[in-house]
Amino acid sequence: MSIRFEEVCKSFGPKTILNQVSFEVPKGEILFILGKSGVGKSVTLKHIVGMLKPQSGRVWVDGSDVGAQDAIGITAIRRKCGMVFQQPALLDSLTVLENVAFGLKTPQAKQVFGTLSESEIRKTVVEKLALVNLEDDILHRRPPEISYGMQKRVSLARTLAPGPQYLLFDEPTTGLDPITTNTVNDLIFDLSRKLQVTSIVVSHDMGCALKIADRILVLDQARVLSLASVEETRRSQVPLIRDFLRETLESENRGHA
Ligand SMILES: Nc1ncnc2c1ncn2[C@@H]1O[C@H](COP(=O)(O)OP(=O)(O)OP(=O)(O)O)[C@@H](O)[C@H]1O
Ligand SMILES: [Mg+2]
Repeated sequence: MSIRFEEVCKSFGPKTILNQVSFEVPKGEILFILGKSGVGKSVTLKHIVGMLKPQSGRVWVDGSDVGAQDAIGITAIRRKCGMVFQQPALLDSLTVLENVAFGLKTPQAKQVFGTLSESEIRKTVVEKLALVNLEDDILHRRPPEISYGMQKRVSLARTLAPGPQYLLFDEPTTGLDPITTNTVNDLIFDLSRKLQVTSIVVSHDMGCALKIADRILVLDQARVLSLASVEETRRSQVPLIRDFLRETLESENRGHA
């Protein structure tokens, strides 16, 4: 049970974004993918759920070649993968209960749960909210009535609702204040361990990666520049990685000043 990239190449027009990218994420691991803006981090995630197809090479999810799947196969893969985007993307006109319940009513979720009664839905929503440390007193509030950090957690609860085996986070902490960043990091870590899901976290933030990753993959110039444990990455002498590490140290020092 794993996600595996095998010599994946992807170009848009003349621009090569991924050039022979290979890596594997074993079950239960938290892998961070770091790299400069525009290097192809989001493009990498989109290959996992079949939103993009490689020109050559293969992406495997649990032994299925994503690029070779028909619509039914892609639906099955998406059922296993919960995508968490940077913005909470909740519907402001719906309550928290209705927003999280949305995750239980998708065609993918219906294949797993069948059609649930209102009381079963409520019970499941409350369980999912508890996983992200929210209580049921916010069930009937709407997103604009709760904090941004809470909205992010509700959005995560919605992603968790259908019971994904893989969590794919695209910049989960970009633009957040340090306290909310810590909360989101802790949640990614706790959920990965508690639910034994495999997580891939796309980020600019070496600080987050050093705190919660098992391994860190750095993309640069369309290739895997480094794929190593946190300790090895810390000791890396590769200039780009040293730059990321320096930025992290400087911002931590500013935080303590
Ligand atoms: N559907 C598309 N069509 C054409 N070009 C695309 C498409 N998707 C991405 N790109 C290009 O591929 C490159 C990599 O994009 P990607 O979104 O993966 O970057 P990123 O590493 O996630 O950057 P950021 O950190 O800013 O989110 C960019 O140059 C982008 O413009
Ligand atoms: Mg991106």
